[in-house]
Amino acid sequence: MDTGFVHLHSLLRWAIVILLLIVLFQAIAKKESIRKTSLFLMIAGHLTLVLGLYQWIAGRYGLLKGLPEGVELMKDTFYRFYWIEHPLGMILAIVLLTVARRKAKALNYRSVVIYLVLTAVLLAAVVPWPFRAGIGRPLFPGM
Ligand code: HEM
Repeated sequence: MDTGFVHLHSLLRWAIVILLLIVLFQAIAKKESIRKTSLFLMIAGHLTLVLGLYQWIAGRYGLLKGLPEGVELMKDTFYRFYWIEHPLGMILAIVLLTVARRKAKALNYRSVVIYLVLTAVLLAAVVPWPFRAGIGRPLFPGM
C-alpha cells in the first residue's frame, strides 16, 4: 500500500504541473473558465498534500520510524530533505496555491498570475528531481 501511495504522490505532481500551466495561461488570457480549472488544480494539490502528510508521518522514511542509528538530521542530506525541506516547502506551496484558487474564484487575474508563479518556483525548488544528488527520484514512478 505504501508503494502505491508513493507512486500516486509522485504521479500527481504531473497533474499539478499541467493544471498549473493551464490556469496560468487562462489567467493571462483573462478567461472566466479559471474558476473551474483552478478548482481541479486545488484538488490535485490537496490530494498530494494528504498523501505527503501520510508519508511524512507513517511512510517508509516517516517520522514514526525515527532516524537510523548515527544519523544527525541537519547533517544528513536525505533526511533533512524528506523530513524538513520537502514537507515544509510543499506545505507553503499548497498554501500559495490555495490563495491563487481564491483569487481565481474572484476573477482577480493579476493576483492569480502572481501566486501561481510563486507556487511554481517553490514547487520546482523542492521536488526531488532525478538529477538532485542524494535525494533524486524518478520522473515517473517505477522508472
Ligand atoms: C505539491 C506537493 C508535492 C509534490 C509535487 C511532491 C512530490 C514528491 C515526489 C515527486 C516524491 C518522490 C516520489 C518517488 O519516490 O517517486 C515525493 C516524495 C515524498 N514526499 Fe512529496 N510532494 C508534495 C508534497 C508533499 C508534502 C506536503 C509532504 C509532507 C508533508 C510530502 C512528503 C513526502 C515524503 C515523506 C516523500 C518520500 C516518500 C518515500 O519515498 O517513502 N510531500 N514527493
